Amino acid sequence: MSTALIILAAGLGTRMNSDQPKVLHRLAGAPLLVHAMTAGAVLEPERVIVVAGHGAETVAKVAREHDENARIVVQEEQLGTAHAVRCALPELDGFKGRVIVLYGDTPFIRPETLEGLAAAEAAVTVLGFTAGDPARYGRLIVNGGALDRIVEFKDATDEERAITLCNSGVISADAGLLAELVSAVGNDNASGEYYLTDIVAAARARGLSAAVVTCPEAETMGVNTRADLAQAEAVFQARARAEAMENGVTLTAPETVFFAYDTVIGRDTVIGPNVVFGPGTTVESGARIEAFCHLEGCHISRGASVGPFARLRPGAELAEDVHVGNFVEIKNAILDEGVKVGHLTYLGDAHVGEHTNIGAGTVTCNYDGVMKHHTEIGANAFIGSDTMLVAPVTVGDGAMTASGSVITRNVAPGALAIERSRQEHIEGFASRFREKLRAEKARKTKEVQ
Ligand code: UD1
Ligand code: MG
Repeated sequence: MSTALIILAAGLGTRMNSDQPKVLHRLAGAPLLVHAMTAGAVLEPERVIVVAGHGAETVAKVAREHDENARIVVQEEQLGTAHAVRCALPELDGFKGRVIVLYGDTPFIRPETLEGLAAAEAAVTVLGFTAGDPARYGRLIVNGGALDRIVEFKDATDEERAITLCNSGVISADAGLLAELVSAVGNDNASGEYYLTDIVAAARARGLSAAVVTCPEAETMGVNTRADLAQAEAVFQARARAEAMENGVTLTAPETVFFAYDTVIGRDTVIGPNVVFGPGTTVESGARIEAFCHLEGCHISRGASVGPFARLRPGAELAEDVHVGNFVEIKNAILDEGVKVGHLTYLGDAHVGEHTNIGAGTVTCNYDGVMKHHTEIGANAFIGSDTMLVAPVTVGDGAMTASGSVITRNVAPGALAIERSRQEHIEGFASRFREKLRAEKARKTKEVQ
């Protein structure tokens, strides 16, 4: 059966105390909304509808960047979850199949859970969980295994509030039925809101079935405050670290390594303490990432070693057995097999051929204040320490640059480029000069006494 997703993301998230819509706050480098969309993607939805409200334009942009086919509807006023779903109905026009409603601020629903929900056969199925502290969640009223209705906390009796089986907010229903049911929902309740949860009782009143599928509470965690966001980050990182180790990655100090939502690390890679991964990083098997590295949008091949204290920025591609050492920054640069960049270097907008050695203090001067320019360095070349490579510039295969040179013209293969003044010697000068300074110091000391 085909699936459509409706992701509710119109709320302001007042308690975030932010100018930014809540669903755009980032967890492990990706907006919360993207986590929800990624979770839903496992169902291969035919349509993805995002209900935006506060900051709708930016929410729409982020949603489309992640999925260009995402349909955005704007809910001008947040009149409740059923009203939000009603706003999405025009985008369901002509769709036949099941609709699953997710929240944009609930990032941890697992694919398996959604698959279980999608497989349920009742007319309306709700994802529930047993809450440690049921607090203000909607309560699921179950009777003889069937779901009768959902009662919101504000409308619940004391007896109902004692129930710990709660509504996660995720609901699945047939598209046609959902359209009919949400259109009939009223707002005669304690909040004066249109509750999506009311569709359960409405379905039952028509003699249709309603069921609960449960998941662990951890999956239903929503983000409402900055403290929740920090807590969600901690949960994400704990899982990512455990998963990495299960997959055969060594983490010397797991609690100090931070992964992004899409980090991929190969087996037998060793990651030292205090390493941070930004989005878009892949590391092949058997690499070493030493302490205090920051890696983002880069690829590290088998057997390469990075750090300590290295920064790889977007577009950094390290081939096999490349070594990048301390205080090296690499951006939009391809380093072929066996390249060594040991210390204190910036390589940006560059390509370095295999087995070339880049000396300490080398800088590709890639930016002229307006445009970026490319530096091409051949294979088996030797870039002397403190070489400034003023791009655009090419250094040929097997060429050398002398230490301290500012290279502004292309260097032919096999050539040496030297750009610095010739060294002069003045015999005995240092000794004479030092004697003079000492005499002066002695005279001044006497004067003071
Ligand atoms: C909702 C459920 C409750 C459940 C809880 C789980 C209803 C009536 N209640 O309550 O049973 O236990 O979630 O967290 O559904 N939103 C819109 N437009 C609106 C209203 C909400 O897009 O007009 C979005 C919000 O941005 C949020 C989600 O829907 O992502 C849930 O809304 P929220 O106000 O948090 O509902 P709760 O009162 O927590
Ligand atoms: Mg809520």
